Amino acid sequence: MGTGRHPDYVLAVDPRRGDPCGRPYTGDPGDRPYTGDPGGRPPVRASASGKVILLGEHAVVYGRPAIAVPLSGLRATAILTPYPGPFRIQAPAVGIDAPFSDLPSDHPLARIVHLTVEHLRQPPPDALLRIESDIPVASGLGSGAAVSTAIVRALAAWYDVPLDPPTVSALVYEVERIYHGTPSGIDNTVVAHEQPVYFIRGRPPEPLPVGGVLHLLVADSGVPSQTREVVGDVRRRWEAEPARYEALFDRVAAEVEAARRAIAQGDARALGERMDANHELLREMGVSAPVLDRLVEAARRAGALGAKLSGAGRGGNVVALVEPPAADRVEAALRTAGAARVWRTGVSPKP
Ligand code: MEV
Repeated sequence: MGTGRHPDYVLAVDPRRGDPCGRPYTGDPGDRPYTGDPGGRPPVRASASGKVILLGEHAVVYGRPAIAVPLSGLRATAILTPYPGPFRIQAPAVGIDAPFSDLPSDHPLARIVHLTVEHLRQPPPDALLRIESDIPVASGLGSGAAVSTAIVRALAAWYDVPLDPPTVSALVYEVERIYHGTPSGIDNTVVAHEQPVYFIRGRPPEPLPVGGVLHLLVADSGVPSQTREVVGDVRRRWEAEPARYEALFDRVAAEVEAARRAIAQGDARALGERMDANHELLREMGVSAPVLDRLVEAARRAGALGAKLSGAGRGGNVVALVEPPAADRVEAALRTAGAARVWRTGVSPKP
């Protein structure tokens, strides 16, 4: 099923879960604990997608290219409801229900609110901000970037100020630095633009020409991936063995370039081979884990065209490229191999 708003890729989307473009939401009677004054201003609701990195993670921190796509079927949502009290934040998934002023200023939720209202030259709103998310935390699926993006979009809608994707991305990047230490910026970029991107650190993202539909399975290992630690560990290894790691990053870059050509030509078989090769390079970098190798192996044996870990690694998720007839078999194999959850997604050419 398509989102109807992003015809360049097709995903299993629950149409009830808000507007992927972050436009204000006014009609959902949904079961929220506080729904505001029925005669007053309606709640404002905005959402943002998760993401999956197809190729190039880690090397992208060192200036090499990477390719990522949004996961529009998995979303974080921010709801601002008029509230007769000091601005309050509720994020049940992480156990937060507190006045905004009680959160430490370097808390990611406080930071993105501060940055956004400063940018908008507005005070924090007279509202209750509730965060809901389908995106598992610490799974490499961009949960932090999606939550921040949804908050920026909701605040911008509340104050009726349109913000373009590069501005949203720049605000979210500041918070990614709390989560990740030295982020490349790929997560905030793909989430804020909600488009498949070819990305090089420090440059505007390039749209990714897609020559044929790509069918992907994303499997969560159920083991948390601590991006900050893994990225820090790769940095220490790179400092200890710069020539070896630079050479590995160059080989990743070559796989990304070949994958970009394969995607443009709609050559799924060639893309699968590039994904397999990228996984081997990530293993050589030391960021895979037995649980990830097991899932990758299970997907390949069940007929996937290619499979690799995605994101920082050591835990988190793997992504497998499949032909539609093999999708059920590969999904079953991933579950048997221990996947906690499996999502289907895809990337389609622009019509
Ligand atoms: C994390 O989603 C991707 C990494 O390449 C880190 C980054 O790019 O900031 C591991």
